[in-house]
Amino acid sequence: MAPTLTTEGAAQETIRPQFNIDGGGAAPRTLVVVISDALRRALTAPGDPALRPLPDQVVALLEALRAPPRLAAHLRAVHDVAAQLTDALADRFPQLPVDRAAVLFGAATHDIGKVRHPEELSGPGSAHEPAGYDLLLRHGVATSVARFARTHASWQQDGIDVDDLLVSVADKVWKGKRVTDLEDLLVDRLAAATGRDRWSVFLDLDDILDRIAADADRRLAFQATHPVRAPASGR
Ligand SMILES: [Fe+2]
Repeated sequence: MAPTLTTEGAAQETIRPQFNIDGGGAAPRTLVVVISDALRRALTAPGDPALRPLPDQVVALLEALRAPPRLAAHLRAVHDVAAQLTDALADRFPQLPVDRAAVLFGAATHDIGKVRHPEELSGPGSAHEPAGYDLLLRHGVATSVARFARTHASWQQDGIDVDDLLVSVADKVWKGKRVTDLEDLLVDRLAAATGRDRWSVFLDLDDILDRIAADADRRLAFQATHPVRAPASGR
């Protein structure tokens, strides 16, 4: 007997029957495994402008969690911007101490708690922040890099360092948003690291952020092409 397939969101999903269990005279029961083409596309589509792939560890985690495609697309956009930002800062402010790998991992995972709170993909809310931190810890991620899930919207709190600020800035400027109090904190760090005047540092930072923000509309368009809804689980 042909398997009964779940076709919810079929336009974005391929659903592959894995087992077909005949209930011995009762109506056949079918187990299916959902192969999310939508998530795969969000993780691999080139993007315009081209977006870097996420780190392999993050890709594996998003696949295991059956993350919403929109979330994967967002994480790619912010991760790519974080890479551009850290590269530009290393060029213009080589004195600034930055753990680039940590920043990139943080950008790639900062909203992962929205797997548990998908309503926060399309509406306000901060429940995803502690949820994301806990989720990363449960999957064996070290607290030193899981922290970005908790700190990316809390730049005014005590204990926030340069790497936290960079993830927060990337999470704003990817869509062209400029946040004065956040950027002021980064200017403070840049001025302290370089010994230069704040106004001078700001002009350089402003130029870097303006250049990155110039592609914001295209990144927003890329993200919008990927559906919010997570693929249905096998049933
Ligand atoms: Fe974000």
